[in-house]
Amino acid sequence: MSGTAVTDATRKRTHRCGELRAADAGATVVLQGWVNRRRDLGGLVFMDVRDRTGMTQVVIEPESAAAFAAASECRSEYVVSVTGTVRLRPEGQRLATSGTGTVEVLADGVDILATSKTPPFLVDGSIDADDVNEELRLRYRYLDLRRPAALEPLLLRHRVTKAIWDFLDGRGFVQVETPLLTLSTPEGARDFVVPARAEAGSFYALPQSPQLFKQMLMMSGVDRYFQVARCFRDEDLRADRQPDFTQLDIEMSFVDQEDILSLNEELMAHVVAAATGASVPAPFERLSYRDAMDRFGSDKPDLRFGLELADVTDTFAGSDFRGFASAVAAGGAVKLLHLDADTAAGISRKVLDELESHAKRHGAGGLAWLRRAEDGGDGTAADASGATFSGPVAKFMSQQETQALARHATRQGDLLLMVAAAWPTACTALGAVRLELARRLGLVTDPDELRFLWVVDFPLLERADDGSFTYMHHPFTRPVDADLPLLDSDPGAVRAHAYDLVLNGNEVGGGSLRIHRLDVQQRMFKALGFTEAAARERFGFFLDALAFGAPPHGGIAWGLDRLVMLLAKVDSIRDTIAFPKNQRGGDPLTGAPSRLDPAQLADLGLSVRAGDTLGGGTSGGDTAAGGERSDGA
Ligand code: AMO
Repeated sequence: MSGTAVTDATRKRTHRCGELRAADAGATVVLQGWVNRRRDLGGLVFMDVRDRTGMTQVVIEPESAAAFAAASECRSEYVVSVTGTVRLRPEGQRLATSGTGTVEVLADGVDILATSKTPPFLVDGSIDADDVNEELRLRYRYLDLRRPAALEPLLLRHRVTKAIWDFLDGRGFVQVETPLLTLSTPEGARDFVVPARAEAGSFYALPQSPQLFKQMLMMSGVDRYFQVARCFRDEDLRADRQPDFTQLDIEMSFVDQEDILSLNEELMAHVVAAATGASVPAPFERLSYRDAMDRFGSDKPDLRFGLELADVTDTFAGSDFRGFASAVAAGGAVKLLHLDADTAAGISRKVLDELESHAKRHGAGGLAWLRRAEDGGDGTAADASGATFSGPVAKFMSQQETQALARHATRQGDLLLMVAAAWPTACTALGAVRLELARRLGLVTDPDELRFLWVVDFPLLERADDGSFTYMHHPFTRPVDADLPLLDSDPGAVRAHAYDLVLNGNEVGGGSLRIHRLDVQQRMFKALGFTEAAARERFGFFLDALAFGAPPHGGIAWGLDRLVMLLAKVDSIRDTIAFPKNQRGGDPLTGAPSRLDPAQLADLGLSVRAGDTLGGGTSGGDTAAGGERSDGA
């Protein structure tokens, strides 16, 4: 450290760097923080001293010789302790906009508490984070977080978590921690596993969620549980996914679905108000899964803009246009998106090609488009008798089909986009086109809008790629009682007591009522293709628990990082996490994951196959867009 100490460096600060105001003029103060910037104006040194509350301008005159000498040594990011007197800045130099902008501190003592190397990127607010490579920011995350804009999402996250605790505590919820070293359960993603040294060849799994533990807490009589819980899922990463992420996990006994939804609406309104000041209207809108898919092409629709999908499946039953007719004959659907002439005017051939690639990335075979070529036959837009369309598939349309489509495209220049495929694919692919159009056309106009929505009435099961049935939420979701007989005869038709919480087109939560009867759980495992022995082997402990009197119960988990991301209006959940992983699951700061040394491996009874590499987790590109898959349990 510097040999020019002029005050007692152990002196405590009297104020934070963002606190001083005009009313403090005349006070003797001690400030401690980082040198944000130092300006040497020949004979006078100015330093902005920064901590997380803000910055204060410090003036050091040559008359305070020791302070001046120390200040002359200071560089950006040095840690200093400054003693001095608060005074009003000269008239004309007062900045009303910033909190401390009317005052400065005339220093009589400056201590350098720590020096700093030149930082690899500027954190003094002079450059935008987007100008710095994210990998570099994550590698030096402790520097990155010195930027107020980087710290803000963490402060918001703190307010969100505190509001959650306050609200739930007031409603009789008990926070309980559940184990991190636990048993592998198939819940949708791959597990992260931890070798158990005491039993070579055995592994713990890190929990994908506390699902079974929270259910067993209901069986314990805890009645109302919550936890801000760390979850671990080894899955493809995107801007809204991390391998270790945080859920607000909630479970309640003796409740129905309505109780859970309304409690969550109240909780969300409280959290948003406490953390951001915004008010959230309750109750939230609701859409059935079927309607969400049919009308918006997504199970997490963004309702901040219209652009709804229509269904023209009936129009193309038995069509001569083979592309469409075969999809309909196979039980699929033809979905349609209409753009009025004004909007469509900006959609060039090139844009249509890009939209088609987008649809294909989401499973569609193609994206058919038709542009209405003239006004209606009798001069009114509604008359379809003389309608004609242009576009590559126009020549395949029969007169009847043309007229049916003209009822969707009523004016010259109107554009129709269509996807024919299996129903979920047709919906999802055109839904992705809808989102892409919204992005290109700037359809979201109010950046502050928070559009919450419940998606309800999910099917219990869906078909996996191999044709077998798999759960849509997780294997513990309760079927609608009336549909129980269908579990064996028509599993795809069974409805679930399940719901997802959606905000601005993002799934921020998901939950369900749970199976609380052993016989129903056994039937569910059977529908999922487990033999009795296999179910026993994987879930024996849980089946045992169900045999001792389980209360009817249900709950939900919010994706806390995602919620904070949306409230903070940042682009990635990485911005809401103090020390996040990069897009490949690596930690650029610590270098994790890393190899174990041979002694550790031997201890664990493990060996790594020659030729296997680590795959390198500490660099890589974002996989943000990617195909959609369910989040697992
Ligand atoms: P689910 O799997 O839907 O439900 O997860 C709940 C919420 O967690 C968030 N989420 C993620 N956030 C960041 N990174 C990830 N990799 C990630 N995966 C999921 C999403 C999601 O809505 N046990 C059930 C809940 C229940 O039934 O009560 C569960 O975990 O926002």
